[in-house]
Amino acid sequence: MRLSYMLSKELAKRMILVHPPEPRKELLLSPPSDGIYLGKTRYLCTPVFWDPKKLINPHTAIVGITGSGKSYLVKSFLTRASMIWDSNAIILDWVGEYNKWVRQAGGTVINLGKEKINLLDLVGLRKRDRIKQIIAALDILVELKNHPHERDEIEEALDDVYEKVSKPTLKDVVRILEQRRKKHASRLLKRFTAEGSDFFAGKSTLNIKDLTEGGLVCIDLHELPTEEIRSLAGLTILQYIKEIMRGEGIKESRGIRLFVVLDEAWKIANDERSDVITIVREGRKYNFALIVATQNPTDMHKTIFSNIGTMFVLRLVLKEFRDYVKNSIGYSDFIDTEISRFGVGDAAVNMIFAERQAKSATFLMNKIDGEEPLFLFHIKGGNMEVEIEKEQLMRMLYEIGLNESQINIVKMEFEKNDGFVNGEQLVAMLEKFGYSKSSIISFLRQLGIDEKNLIRIFSLVKIRKATKGVVNVVLET
Ligand SMILES: Nc1ncnc2c1ncn2[C@@H]1O[C@H](COP(=O)(O)OP(=O)(O)OP(=O)(O)O)[C@@H](O)[C@H]1O
Ligand SMILES: [Mg+2]
Repeated sequence: MRLSYMLSKELAKRMILVHPPEPRKELLLSPPSDGIYLGKTRYLCTPVFWDPKKLINPHTAIVGITGSGKSYLVKSFLTRASMIWDSNAIILDWVGEYNKWVRQAGGTVINLGKEKINLLDLVGLRKRDRIKQIIAALDILVELKNHPHERDEIEEALDDVYEKVSKPTLKDVVRILEQRRKKHASRLLKRFTAEGSDFFAGKSTLNIKDLTEGGLVCIDLHELPTEEIRSLAGLTILQYIKEIMRGEGIKESRGIRLFVVLDEAWKIANDERSDVITIVREGRKYNFALIVATQNPTDMHKTIFSNIGTMFVLRLVLKEFRDYVKNSIGYSDFIDTEISRFGVGDAAVNMIFAERQAKSATFLMNKIDGEEPLFLFHIKGGNMEVEIEKEQLMRMLYEIGLNESQINIVKMEFEKNDGFVNGEQLVAMLEKFGYSKSSIISFLRQLGIDEKNLIRIFSLVKIRKATKGVVNVVLET
């Protein structure tokens, strides 16, 4: 009893001197022009900035179960990177979950289902090198290594096609193989040239170089018909990006020029031969950074894991996944338990700083303090539609005197209907809150609704009142 009392007293005394397991302030803090702000640490509430100058490399991995906040973190990260460094980003979007946001953020969405990439385009490479790359991609996708004969036949046919055909495509390769009665080899390639799956067998409609300099770009792969074709597209784009990166030479400039984002791209992120690995190994000198996000950390090749400067671990439930991450970056059992019960956006972060450290500590962050996307609300009526940014509408409602719960009622009404509300619904809400007709009219005028539509809206309100409970009136023009 006495002993334990003494021990705890001793411990309490020491606790004052114990620094919580968080990196020193000067490692986490950066001027807002040098680093991306992400939120605050859990214990000392130190603002956390992601500053590539301080980190061993600019590559980032994000792991967490579905809904834990991976994509939200990626979006906030890219928004701020483009504000600070004017960074470009290419998102390889497997499931089509970024396209709406990229459009809203003023970026470009490329729907690969509607484009073509000629796999045989040289993009500045020598024929021999491009052939090697094509074979490498096929090695990963159709396990060409298990078919050594066919592998040789395809390689030979590729060699020939560049000699014999100007601007060849994969269809020419298949034709040569068929002429030579190399049935099995041609069958291996035919899955990429068949009607409806010939995304790689026509004239290229994309200029990848332009895309790497095009601000925020989402390459939406989800309309491609099979996982195999999505992966070939991903691998091919990465091969081009790698060549562009190497071609541009080493850069001293600050910040990151291009973020390459792979979200759930497991097929190309767990193969040593894919260029994800090259970008991870060489990207730093060219200011190219990789961001990989996945629900399943074991899908990520260990070379990626061991060459990542920053790791965000969001909520992970499965012990097997947590153990894999814990073994890779190392943290306490306490942090392990916390990770299993994180809320949305909470994160354990491991940063490896360039400056020598006793050890790289994994620290806890409160909810990532991200960037809410801009939402547009629409007020409709007849053939009129007024568009207004959500925050601005909320501000205007506040200025005319609505209280917080009334503003929330209006907001929920818009959100319930995917951002749309009819003019007469809005009027009905404001009347319910006690606003007079004249103050509602002047508010609607402020929103940009013209006189003709004002009359229409109020006549609808009147008809609705008059027929309340009798019919549900919809007045279309
Ligand atoms: N830090 C955060 N602050 C506020 N909201 C967040 C935060 N992180 C995520 N959310 C919200 O939680 C929801 C799920 O987040 P998100 O889409 O990023 O999950 P995810 O991990 O990418 O899931 P999935 O693996 O299914 O793609 C979204 O509606 C997002 O807006
Ligand atoms: Mg996601």
